[in-house]
Amino acid sequence: MLDVAAFDATTAEELRARGSLKWTRFPQALGLWVAEMDLPLAPPVAQALHRAVDMPFIGYLSAEAKAAAREACAAWYARATGWSPDPARIHLMTDVLHSLDLLLGQVLPAGTETVVVTPAYMPFLYRPRVLERPFVTAPARRDEDGTYRVDLDALDGALRGGGRLLVLCNPWNPVGRVLTEVELREVAAVVEANDALVFADEIHAPLVYDGVGHVPYASLSDATAAHSVTATAASKAWNLAGLKCSALVATHDDVHERLLDLAPVLSDDPGTLGVVAMAAAYDDGEPFLRETLAYLDKNRAALADALARELPSARHTPPEGTYLAWVDLRGVRTGSGEELPEDLVTFFRERAGVALQDGAACGAPGFVRLNIALPQPILLDAVRAMAAAVAAA
Ligand SMILES: Cc1ncc(COP(=O)(O)O)c(C=O)c1O
Repeated sequence: MLDVAAFDATTAEELRARGSLKWTRFPQALGLWVAEMDLPLAPPVAQALHRAVDMPFIGYLSAEAKAAAREACAAWYARATGWSPDPARIHLMTDVLHSLDLLLGQVLPAGTETVVVTPAYMPFLYRPRVLERPFVTAPARRDEDGTYRVDLDALDGALRGGGRLLVLCNPWNPVGRVLTEVELREVAAVVEANDALVFADEIHAPLVYDGVGHVPYASLSDATAAHSVTATAASKAWNLAGLKCSALVATHDDVHERLLDLAPVLSDDPGTLGVVAMAAAYDDGEPFLRETLAYLDKNRAALADALARELPSARHTPPEGTYLAWVDLRGVRTGSGEELPEDLVTFFRERAGVALQDGAACGAPGFVRLNIALPQPILLDAVRAMAAAVAAA
Protein backbone atom coordinates (compact mmCIF):
# COMPACT_ATOMS: atom_id res chain seq x y z
CA MET A 1 0.00 0.00 0.00
CA LEU A 2 1.24 3.45 -0.86
CA ASP A 3 1.27 5.49 2.35
CA VAL A 4 0.09 8.77 0.87
CA ALA A 5 0.41 10.78 4.10
CA ALA A 6 4.01 9.61 4.61
CA PHE A 7 4.87 10.32 1.00
CA ASP A 8 3.30 13.77 1.13
CA ALA A 9 5.38 14.50 4.23
CA THR A 10 8.66 13.63 2.48
CA THR A 11 10.88 16.68 2.31
CA ALA A 12 13.25 17.84 -0.42
CA GLU A 13 16.16 17.23 1.98
CA GLU A 14 15.08 13.61 2.44
CA LEU A 15 14.78 13.13 -1.31
CA ARG A 16 18.23 14.63 -1.84
CA ALA A 17 19.66 12.30 0.80
CA ARG A 18 18.55 9.29 -1.28
CA GLY A 19 21.14 10.37 -3.82
CA SER A 20 19.17 10.10 -7.08
CA LEU A 21 20.23 12.10 -10.12
CA LYS A 22 17.00 14.13 -10.08
CA TRP A 23 17.76 15.55 -6.65
CA THR A 24 21.56 15.76 -6.59
CA ARG A 25 22.49 17.24 -9.96
CA PHE A 26 21.14 20.66 -8.94
CA PRO A 27 21.30 20.45 -5.15
CA GLN A 28 19.86 23.93 -4.57
CA ALA A 29 16.77 23.26 -6.67
CA LEU A 30 13.58 21.19 -6.47
CA GLY A 31 13.81 18.17 -8.78
CA LEU A 32 11.18 18.40 -11.54
CA TRP A 33 13.38 17.46 -14.47
CA VAL A 34 14.68 13.97 -15.38
CA ALA A 35 12.00 11.27 -15.77
CA GLU A 36 12.26 9.25 -12.58
CA MET A 37 9.76 9.11 -9.75
CA ASP A 38 10.14 9.82 -6.05
CA LEU A 39 7.42 7.35 -5.09
CA PRO A 40 8.48 4.27 -3.12
CA LEU A 41 9.46 1.06 -4.83
CA ALA A 42 6.58 -1.40 -5.36
CA PRO A 43 6.76 -3.90 -2.46
CA PRO A 44 6.79 -7.04 -4.71
CA VAL A 45 9.72 -5.60 -6.65
CA ALA A 46 11.60 -4.71 -3.47
CA GLN A 47 10.98 -8.22 -2.12
CA ALA A 48 12.23 -9.87 -5.33
CA LEU A 49 15.38 -7.77 -5.21
CA HIS A 50 15.96 -8.55 -1.52
CA ARG A 51 15.49 -12.27 -2.24
CA ALA A 52 18.02 -12.14 -5.08
CA VAL A 53 20.59 -10.30 -2.96
CA ASP A 54 20.06 -12.56 0.07
CA MET A 55 20.45 -15.81 -1.89
CA PRO A 56 22.71 -14.41 -3.49
CA PHE A 57 21.54 -14.47 -7.11
CA ILE A 58 23.77 -11.84 -8.61
CA GLY A 59 26.00 -13.79 -11.01
CA TYR A 60 25.78 -13.90 -14.77
CA LEU A 61 22.29 -13.82 -16.13
CA SER A 62 20.75 -17.25 -16.65
CA ALA A 63 18.53 -18.33 -19.53
CA GLU A 64 15.78 -19.11 -16.99
CA ALA A 65 15.82 -15.61 -15.51
CA LYS A 66 15.70 -14.09 -18.99
CA ALA A 67 12.83 -16.34 -20.00
CA ALA A 68 10.88 -15.37 -16.87
CA ALA A 69 11.26 -11.66 -17.66
CA ARG A 70 10.28 -12.13 -21.31
CA GLU A 71 7.19 -14.11 -20.30
CA ALA A 72 6.28 -11.51 -17.69
CA CYS A 73 6.59 -8.68 -20.22
CA ALA A 74 4.48 -10.53 -22.80
CA ALA A 75 1.86 -11.46 -20.21
CA TRP A 76 1.65 -7.87 -18.94
CA TYR A 77 1.08 -6.57 -22.47
CA ALA A 78 -1.62 -9.18 -23.01
CA ARG A 79 -3.42 -8.29 -19.75
CA ALA A 80 -3.08 -4.54 -20.11
CA THR A 81 -3.58 -4.07 -23.84
CA GLY A 82 -4.78 -7.35 -25.37
CA TRP A 83 -1.61 -7.63 -27.48
CA SER A 84 0.27 -10.90 -26.98
CA PRO A 85 3.79 -10.56 -28.28
CA ASP A 86 5.71 -13.80 -28.73
CA PRO A 87 8.19 -14.00 -25.82
CA ALA A 88 10.72 -15.49 -28.24
CA ARG A 89 10.72 -12.14 -30.07
CA ILE A 90 11.52 -10.18 -26.91
CA HIS A 91 15.20 -9.27 -26.70
CA LEU A 92 16.27 -8.09 -23.28
CA MET A 93 18.46 -5.03 -23.55
CA THR A 94 20.06 -2.65 -21.10
CA ASP A 95 17.92 0.32 -22.04
CA VAL A 96 15.68 1.78 -24.70
CA LEU A 97 18.17 4.31 -26.02
CA HIS A 98 20.77 1.59 -26.40
CA SER A 99 18.28 -0.39 -28.49
CA LEU A 100 17.84 2.57 -30.81
CA ASP A 101 21.60 3.06 -31.08
CA LEU A 102 22.05 -0.64 -31.83
CA LEU A 103 19.43 -0.54 -34.57
CA LEU A 104 21.00 2.48 -36.20
CA GLY A 105 24.58 1.36 -35.68
CA GLN A 106 24.53 -2.37 -36.29
CA VAL A 107 21.17 -3.70 -37.38
CA LEU A 108 19.75 -1.40 -40.06
CA PRO A 109 21.69 -0.41 -43.18
CA ALA A 110 24.35 2.26 -42.54
CA GLY A 111 23.00 5.76 -42.95
CA THR A 112 19.36 4.87 -42.19
CA GLU A 113 17.68 8.24 -41.73
CA THR A 114 15.55 8.65 -38.62
CA VAL A 115 12.34 10.67 -38.58
CA VAL A 116 11.57 12.27 -35.23
CA VAL A 117 8.20 13.84 -34.47
CA THR A 118 8.65 17.05 -32.47
CA PRO A 119 8.18 17.99 -29.68
CA ALA A 120 10.37 15.00 -28.93
CA TYR A 121 12.11 13.32 -26.02
CA MET A 122 15.45 15.17 -26.07
CA PRO A 123 17.85 12.28 -26.86
CA PHE A 124 15.94 11.48 -30.06
CA LEU A 125 17.19 14.85 -31.29
CA TYR A 126 20.68 15.06 -29.83
CA ARG A 127 21.83 11.44 -30.11
CA PRO A 128 21.70 11.15 -33.91
CA ARG A 129 23.48 14.51 -34.08
CA VAL A 130 26.28 13.40 -31.72
CA LEU A 131 26.57 9.97 -33.34
CA GLU A 132 26.57 11.62 -36.79
CA ARG A 133 23.56 9.71 -38.03
CA PRO A 134 21.11 11.35 -40.41
CA PHE A 135 17.79 12.46 -38.99
CA VAL A 136 14.97 14.77 -39.91
CA THR A 137 12.11 16.19 -37.84
CA ALA A 138 8.38 16.04 -38.58
CA PRO A 139 6.84 18.79 -36.43
CA ALA A 140 3.49 17.85 -34.86
CA ARG A 141 0.25 19.81 -35.22
CA ARG A 142 -1.12 21.51 -32.15
CA ASP A 143 -4.88 22.05 -31.98
CA GLU A 144 -6.43 25.20 -30.50
CA ASP A 145 -7.02 23.37 -27.21
CA GLY A 146 -3.36 22.39 -26.98
CA THR A 147 -3.77 18.79 -28.18
CA TYR A 148 -0.80 17.53 -30.16
CA ARG A 149 -1.27 15.26 -33.19
CA VAL A 150 1.19 13.70 -35.58
CA ASP A 151 1.10 15.87 -38.71
CA LEU A 152 0.55 13.25 -41.38
CA ASP A 153 1.63 15.57 -44.20
CA ALA A 154 4.85 16.45 -42.40
CA LEU A 155 5.46 12.77 -41.71
CA ASP A 156 4.78 11.84 -45.32
CA GLY A 157 7.14 14.59 -46.50
CA ALA A 158 9.89 13.41 -44.17
CA LEU A 159 9.55 9.80 -45.32
CA ARG A 160 9.35 10.75 -49.00
CA GLY A 161 12.44 12.86 -48.50
CA GLY A 162 14.50 9.83 -47.45
CA GLY A 163 13.49 9.08 -43.86
CA ARG A 164 13.41 5.33 -43.24
CA LEU A 165 12.87 4.84 -39.51
CA LEU A 166 10.07 6.67 -37.70
CA VAL A 167 10.64 7.02 -33.97
CA LEU A 168 7.10 6.94 -32.61
CA CYS A 169 6.93 7.72 -28.91
CA ASN A 170 3.56 6.72 -27.40
CA PRO A 171 2.68 7.61 -24.65
CA TRP A 172 4.33 10.72 -25.95
CA ASN A 173 7.14 12.27 -23.93
CA PRO A 174 7.18 15.29 -23.55
CA VAL A 175 3.60 16.29 -24.45
CA GLY A 176 1.76 13.56 -22.51
CA ARG A 177 -0.54 12.48 -25.35
CA VAL A 178 -1.61 8.85 -25.73
CA LEU A 179 -2.39 8.35 -29.40
CA THR A 180 -5.72 6.72 -30.19
CA GLU A 181 -6.10 3.65 -32.37
CA VAL A 182 -7.51 5.84 -35.16
CA GLU A 183 -4.49 8.15 -35.02
CA LEU A 184 -2.09 5.20 -34.96
CA ARG A 185 -3.78 3.67 -38.00
CA GLU A 186 -3.39 6.96 -39.86
CA VAL A 187 0.32 7.01 -39.00
CA ALA A 188 0.63 3.36 -40.05
CA ALA A 189 -0.94 4.09 -43.44
CA VAL A 190 1.67 6.78 -44.13
CA VAL A 191 4.48 4.48 -42.97
CA GLU A 192 3.25 1.66 -45.17
CA ALA A 193 2.80 3.88 -48.19
CA ASN A 194 6.46 4.84 -47.82
CA ASP A 195 7.71 1.34 -47.05
CA ALA A 196 9.33 2.63 -43.84
CA LEU A 197 9.99 1.11 -40.41
CA VAL A 198 8.85 2.16 -36.95
CA PHE A 199 10.74 2.22 -33.68
CA ALA A 200 7.76 2.28 -31.30
CA ASP A 201 8.98 3.68 -27.98
CA GLU A 202 6.38 2.51 -25.46
CA ILE A 203 8.44 2.87 -22.32
CA HIS A 204 5.60 4.82 -20.65
CA ALA A 205 2.92 2.31 -21.73
CA PRO A 206 1.72 1.34 -18.23
CA LEU A 207 1.42 5.01 -17.22
CA VAL A 208 -1.94 5.95 -18.70
CA TYR A 209 -4.74 7.54 -16.71
CA ASP A 210 -8.26 6.19 -16.23
CA GLY A 211 -10.33 6.29 -19.38
CA VAL A 212 -7.29 6.30 -21.66
CA GLY A 213 -6.25 3.08 -23.35
CA HIS A 214 -2.76 2.43 -24.64
CA VAL A 215 -2.75 0.71 -28.04
CA PRO A 216 0.59 -0.89 -28.94
CA TYR A 217 1.57 0.09 -32.47
CA ALA A 218 2.56 -3.49 -33.38
CA SER A 219 -0.88 -4.73 -32.31
CA LEU A 220 -2.75 -2.82 -35.02
CA SER A 221 -2.24 -5.36 -37.81
CA ASP A 222 0.13 -7.96 -39.19
CA ALA A 223 1.58 -5.19 -41.34
CA THR A 224 2.40 -2.87 -38.41
CA ALA A 225 3.95 -5.77 -36.51
CA ALA A 226 6.02 -6.69 -39.56
CA HIS A 227 7.38 -3.17 -40.11
CA SER A 228 8.09 -2.25 -36.50
CA VAL A 229 9.98 -3.01 -33.34
CA THR A 230 8.67 -2.01 -29.92
CA ALA A 231 11.02 -0.74 -27.24
CA THR A 232 9.57 -0.93 -23.77
CA ALA A 233 10.52 -1.43 -20.13
CA ALA A 234 9.18 -1.58 -16.61
CA SER A 235 11.63 1.17 -15.75
CA LYS A 236 9.32 4.22 -15.90
CA ALA A 237 6.13 2.81 -14.39
CA TRP A 238 7.95 0.99 -11.59
CA ASN A 239 10.86 3.38 -11.37
CA LEU A 240 13.75 1.02 -12.10
CA ALA A 241 15.81 3.06 -14.57
CA GLY A 242 19.09 2.58 -12.69
CA LEU A 243 18.76 -1.21 -12.90
CA LYS A 244 19.19 -1.08 -16.68
CA CYS A 245 16.78 -3.58 -18.12
CA SER A 246 14.46 -3.09 -21.07
CA ALA A 247 12.75 -5.14 -23.76
CA LEU A 248 12.95 -4.81 -27.51
CA VAL A 249 10.07 -6.67 -29.11
CA ALA A 250 11.37 -7.49 -32.58
CA THR A 251 8.22 -8.31 -34.52
CA HIS A 252 10.14 -7.22 -37.62
CA ASP A 253 11.58 -10.50 -38.96
CA ASP A 254 14.92 -9.23 -40.28
CA VAL A 255 15.63 -7.19 -37.16
CA HIS A 256 14.87 -10.23 -35.00
CA GLU A 257 17.22 -12.43 -37.06
CA ARG A 258 19.98 -9.85 -37.02
CA LEU A 259 19.68 -9.41 -33.24
CA LEU A 260 19.97 -13.19 -32.81
CA ASP A 261 23.09 -13.19 -35.04
CA LEU A 262 24.63 -10.34 -33.08
CA ALA A 263 23.80 -11.73 -29.63
CA PRO A 264 27.04 -13.74 -29.18
CA VAL A 265 29.21 -10.69 -29.81
CA LEU A 266 27.20 -8.06 -27.97
CA SER A 267 28.03 -7.81 -24.31
CA ASP A 268 24.96 -5.78 -23.60
CA ASP A 269 22.80 -8.11 -21.55
CA PRO A 270 20.98 -6.27 -18.80
CA GLY A 271 22.10 -6.84 -15.22
CA THR A 272 20.72 -9.80 -13.30
CA LEU A 273 18.99 -7.61 -10.72
CA GLY A 274 17.40 -5.55 -13.47
CA VAL A 275 15.93 -8.67 -15.02
CA VAL A 276 14.67 -9.91 -11.65
CA ALA A 277 13.04 -6.53 -11.01
CA MET A 278 11.46 -6.40 -14.45
CA ALA A 279 9.87 -9.82 -14.03
CA ALA A 280 8.54 -8.93 -10.56
CA ALA A 281 7.18 -5.58 -11.74
CA TYR A 282 5.29 -7.01 -14.70
CA ASP A 283 4.10 -10.10 -12.82
CA ASP A 284 3.19 -8.62 -9.43
CA GLY A 285 3.44 -4.85 -9.69
CA GLU A 286 0.00 -3.98 -10.98
CA PRO A 287 -1.72 -3.23 -7.65
CA PHE A 288 1.06 -0.80 -6.71
CA LEU A 289 1.01 0.71 -10.19
CA ARG A 290 -2.70 1.47 -9.74
CA GLU A 291 -1.91 3.30 -6.50
CA THR A 292 0.94 5.14 -8.17
CA LEU A 293 -1.36 6.23 -10.99
CA ALA A 294 -4.02 7.36 -8.51
CA TYR A 295 -1.40 9.55 -6.79
CA LEU A 296 -0.09 10.91 -10.10
CA ASP A 297 -3.64 11.64 -11.19
CA LYS A 298 -4.14 13.84 -8.11
CA ASN A 299 -0.89 15.61 -8.89
CA ARG A 300 -2.02 16.08 -12.47
CA ALA A 301 -5.17 17.86 -11.25
CA ALA A 302 -3.28 19.81 -8.57
CA LEU A 303 -0.78 21.08 -11.12
CA ALA A 304 -3.53 22.23 -13.50
CA ASP A 305 -5.23 24.11 -10.62
CA ALA A 306 -1.99 25.61 -9.38
CA LEU A 307 -0.99 26.83 -12.82
CA ALA A 308 -4.43 28.35 -13.40
CA ARG A 309 -4.16 30.16 -10.06
CA GLU A 310 -0.49 31.14 -9.94
CA LEU A 311 0.51 31.49 -13.60
CA PRO A 312 -2.78 32.06 -15.43
CA SER A 313 -1.17 32.97 -18.74
CA ALA A 314 0.65 29.64 -18.90
CA ARG A 315 -1.19 27.18 -21.15
CA HIS A 316 -1.35 23.58 -20.10
CA THR A 317 -3.26 20.49 -21.18
CA PRO A 318 -2.97 17.77 -18.53
CA PRO A 319 -1.18 14.62 -19.76
CA GLU A 320 -3.22 11.56 -20.78
CA GLY A 321 -0.26 9.37 -19.93
CA THR A 322 3.23 9.67 -18.36
CA TYR A 323 4.04 11.76 -15.27
CA LEU A 324 5.33 14.60 -17.42
CA ALA A 325 3.43 17.85 -17.77
CA TRP A 326 3.99 20.09 -20.77
CA VAL A 327 3.48 23.79 -20.21
CA ASP A 328 3.43 26.59 -22.77
CA LEU A 329 5.01 29.70 -21.26
CA ARG A 330 5.16 31.75 -24.44
CA GLY A 331 2.31 33.99 -23.35
CA VAL A 332 3.69 34.62 -19.86
CA ARG A 333 5.05 38.09 -19.09
CA THR A 334 7.31 39.05 -16.23
CA GLY A 335 6.30 41.56 -13.55
CA SER A 336 7.93 44.25 -15.69
CA GLY A 337 5.96 43.18 -18.76
CA GLU A 338 8.81 41.43 -20.58
CA GLU A 339 8.81 38.08 -22.31
CA LEU A 340 10.53 35.30 -20.40
CA PRO A 341 14.19 34.74 -21.34
CA GLU A 342 15.03 32.11 -23.94
CA ASP A 343 16.94 29.99 -21.42
CA LEU A 344 14.05 28.92 -19.22
CA VAL A 345 16.08 26.26 -17.43
CA THR A 346 18.60 28.71 -16.02
CA PHE A 347 15.91 31.29 -15.28
CA PHE A 348 13.79 28.93 -13.19
CA ARG A 349 16.72 27.16 -11.58
CA GLU A 350 18.44 30.35 -10.49
CA ARG A 351 15.41 32.52 -9.71
CA ALA A 352 12.85 29.97 -8.52
CA GLY A 353 15.03 27.12 -7.30
CA VAL A 354 13.20 24.73 -9.63
CA ALA A 355 15.04 22.32 -11.94
CA LEU A 356 12.87 21.54 -14.96
CA GLN A 357 13.29 20.41 -18.55
CA ASP A 358 13.49 23.02 -21.28
CA GLY A 359 11.14 22.55 -24.23
CA ALA A 360 13.79 23.97 -26.56
CA ALA A 361 15.76 20.72 -26.24
CA CYS A 362 12.57 18.91 -27.32
CA GLY A 363 12.25 21.17 -30.36
CA ALA A 364 9.73 23.56 -28.74
CA PRO A 365 11.26 26.77 -27.34
CA GLY A 366 9.06 28.61 -24.84
CA PHE A 367 7.71 25.38 -23.34
CA VAL A 368 8.83 23.52 -20.23
CA ARG A 369 8.32 19.95 -19.09
CA LEU A 370 7.60 19.36 -15.43
CA ASN A 371 7.96 15.97 -13.74
CA ILE A 372 4.95 15.60 -11.42
CA ALA A 373 6.01 12.31 -9.79
CA LEU A 374 6.98 13.89 -6.49
CA PRO A 375 5.25 14.75 -3.20
CA GLN A 376 2.34 17.07 -3.92
CA PRO A 377 3.38 19.76 -1.41
CA ILE A 378 6.73 20.06 -3.22
CA LEU A 379 4.99 20.24 -6.60
CA LEU A 380 2.83 23.10 -5.33
CA ASP A 381 5.85 24.85 -3.78
CA ALA A 382 7.58 24.63 -7.14
CA VAL A 383 4.69 26.27 -9.00
CA ARG A 384 4.47 29.04 -6.39
CA ALA A 385 8.22 29.63 -6.66
CA MET A 386 8.02 29.76 -10.46
CA ALA A 387 5.17 32.28 -10.33
CA ALA A 388 7.05 34.41 -7.78
CA ALA A 389 10.18 34.40 -9.95
CA VAL A 390 8.17 35.50 -12.97
CA ALA A 391 6.48 38.27 -11.01
CA ALA A 392 9.79 39.48 -9.62
CA ALA A 393 11.61 39.55 -12.99
C1 LIG B 1 10.20 8.20 -24.13
C2 LIG B 1 11.46 7.73 -23.48
N1 LIG B 1 12.24 6.87 -24.13
C3 LIG B 1 13.39 6.43 -23.59
C4 LIG B 1 13.79 6.85 -22.35
C5 LIG B 1 15.09 6.37 -21.81
O1 LIG B 1 14.95 5.08 -21.43
P1 LIG B 1 16.20 4.18 -21.10
O2 LIG B 1 16.72 4.64 -19.79
O3 LIG B 1 15.64 2.80 -21.08
O4 LIG B 1 17.16 4.39 -22.24
C6 LIG B 1 13.00 7.74 -21.63
C7 LIG B 1 13.42 8.23 -20.31
O5 LIG B 1 12.90 9.15 -19.79
C8 LIG B 1 11.80 8.19 -22.21
O6 LIG B 1 10.99 9.03 -21.57
